Amino acid sequence: MDFLPKEINDYCTLYTQKEDDVLYRLHRETHQKILRPRMLSGHLQGQLLTFFSKMIQPEYILEIGTYTGYSAICLARGLKKGGKLYTIDVNEELEDFALSFIEKAGLKECVEMHVGDATKVVPSLKRKWDLVFIDADKENYINYYNLVFDSVKKGGFLIFDNVLWSGKVTQKVDLKDRETVTLVDLAKLLQEDERVENVLLPVRDGLFMVRKK
Ligand SMILES: C[S@@+](CC[C@H](N)C(=O)[O-])C[C@H]1O[C@@H](n2cnc3c(N)ncnc32)[C@H](O)[C@@H]1O
Repeated sequence: MDFLPKEINDYCTLYTQKEDDVLYRLHRETHQKILRPRMLSGHLQGQLLTFFSKMIQPEYILEIGTYTGYSAICLARGLKKGGKLYTIDVNEELEDFALSFIEKAGLKECVEMHVGDATKVVPSLKRKWDLVFIDADKENYINYYNLVFDSVKKGGFLIFDNVLWSGKVTQKVDLKDRETVTLVDLAKLLQEDERVENVLLPVRDGLFMVRKK
């Protein structure tokens, strides 16, 4: 869901650097061939992720939730020379599709994709992260935060996607809706966690930016 009025969103997109050919084709083919294409980050958010990554110049990025590789490509474009992005997705059917676009983007050498449940894969990756992008199953967002926190470098960043959850977080929450309950609990937890600084951006479906002090 976009929270901005359509004309504002269109204006922002108009004056945001155009998607290159690889991202344009990835967006198009995801919509043509893959279920639930709305999951893809898209032009505006993708360019923002590239900017964040270029500002941070990370050596190691962890992404939880590859889908078709759009955000992986956007983030990997900011890697420091010799750096690497590790991306995890539980859906093995996405692997060949995502990797083919990562290769087309010229990023084969600096992206490593792992297929499996991220709650199991994350502890097996022995890296210290400069940037972590969390964009998978919302019920596990707090688990992911706890799982990766010690492996994030001091001064490193975490970004959580979809934290506004189409606005559901601002409505009366049905306690059976575990995704919304977790997202609200995460927001409270981050706000109270003295180990981090945080800002919640109303971009697309909400990006929670967190910096480890
Ligand atoms: C919103 S999509 C990711 C979109 C992608 N980051 C982008 O912006 O283009 C979420 C992905 O998380 C994956 N996923 C869901 N639960 C997972 C889990 N437990 N472990 C790893 N991946 C998971 C899904 O298969 C799906 O591809």
